[in-house]
Amino acid sequence: MKHFMRMVVQVWFYFYCVCVWRFLKFILRKLTGRCELQRICYNNKPGAGRSLKIETSLKASKNKLLQTAVTVHPDAIEKTIEDIMALKNVNVDTNPQLSVSLQACLLQIVGYRNLTLEVERLRREAYDADNNQHEEMLHQLWKLLKPGVPLEARISKQWCEIGFQGDDPKTDFRGMGLLGLCNLVYFAEKENASALQILSDSLQPKSRDVGKDDFSKTSKLEWEMKKFDKSIGYSFAIVGINITDLAYNLLISGALKTHLYNVAPESPTLHHFQQTFCFLMQEFHKFWIEEDPLDIMEFNRVRTKFYKRILKQLQNTDMALCPHFAASEGLVNL
Ligand SMILES: *[C@@H]1O[C@H](CO)[C@@H](O)[C@H](O)[C@H]1NC(C)=O
Ligand SMILES: *[C@@H]1O[C@H](CO)[C@@H](O)[C@H](O)[C@H]1NC(C)=O
Ligand SMILES: *[C@@H]1O[C@H](CO)[C@@H](O)[C@H](O)[C@H]1NC(C)=O
Repeated sequence: MKHFMRMVVQVWFYFYCVCVWRFLKFILRKLTGRCELQRICYNNKPGAGRSLKIETSLKASKNKLLQTAVTVHPDAIEKTIEDIMALKNVNVDTNPQLSVSLQACLLQIVGYRNLTLEVERLRREAYDADNNQHEEMLHQLWKLLKPGVPLEARISKQWCEIGFQGDDPKTDFRGMGLLGLCNLVYFAEKENASALQILSDSLQPKSRDVGKDDFSKTSKLEWEMKKFDKSIGYSFAIVGINITDLAYNLLISGALKTHLYNVAPESPTLHHFQQTFCFLMQEFHKFWIEEDPLDIMEFNRVRTKFYKRILKQLQNTDMALCPHFAASEGLVNL
């Protein structure tokens, strides 16, 4: 009975809050002559800060048109904006800013959704050794990461040199499908210098053999040098596929919205996602060296810590993970 009463009070309180909120919005609208969408666009600069608020406001609306605006087809955005303007009684001629700002927000919101669908489709597409396109991409990855070194056979131990587990990379793509391969090829192609450096670093074995016994034999200087010569020791391709998993989780959970809304002035595309992957590879590599794990058995711990750090960074709505890519700088404050 007591439990039931508490629930009734909670439900009542919830509706009370909703009513107060609606009433406040009504008062604000009367006072400022603007609806909530207008106020958000007016008070926030373009980017994640604004788009996230618009998204929340639309989803929470009790009006069907506003509610479904976040899931319309990309081609229907313009029509949706017109409908919203009519619904809100906003004169587009005297108030041109609102429709422009709202359109930019909707392009991002709808584009993000579209991007998750595209990424999901790639992830579900299994690597198929009978598909010429897949095979070509795999060979391209080899050529990019091993320039000038011929691959002796399709099934070969050589694949381990770029960090696959066995003699056929096919099996390593199981978790992430074609998405893992696409990301690796993108990284090796678009940021070749960085990818080659990370590959070369990752091949350095963990040399922990400098124990106390060796100390007497090695000069102090040599010992210090070995200590600071941080060795890495992980499998490049396998870690690349796993960082794809990490990037995928950030995208699906919605955490990547802050970043993508800040770097993509219109629709975020696969290109933006893959840029983010490159950045995450570079950051993870640095993080791994900083953490200086004993061996690959610590991968799980380092990865979890890294993931938490990125999540924390993404909580800041002004955040763009790779600032050099912040395309929103050129935007006028509409
Ligand atoms: C939506 O995703 C598809 C790929 O699935 C892409 O070709 C299209 O350009 C995207 N549209 C928008 C508006 O982002
Ligand atoms: C990276 O690619 C560019 C152009 O594709 C090439 O000129 C350059 O030599 C490559 N860098 C490395 C380190 O292979
Ligand atoms: C990546 O690593 C984590 C932690 O070790 C693991 O749970 C996850 O399944 C891995 N993902 C892939 C695609 O291998």
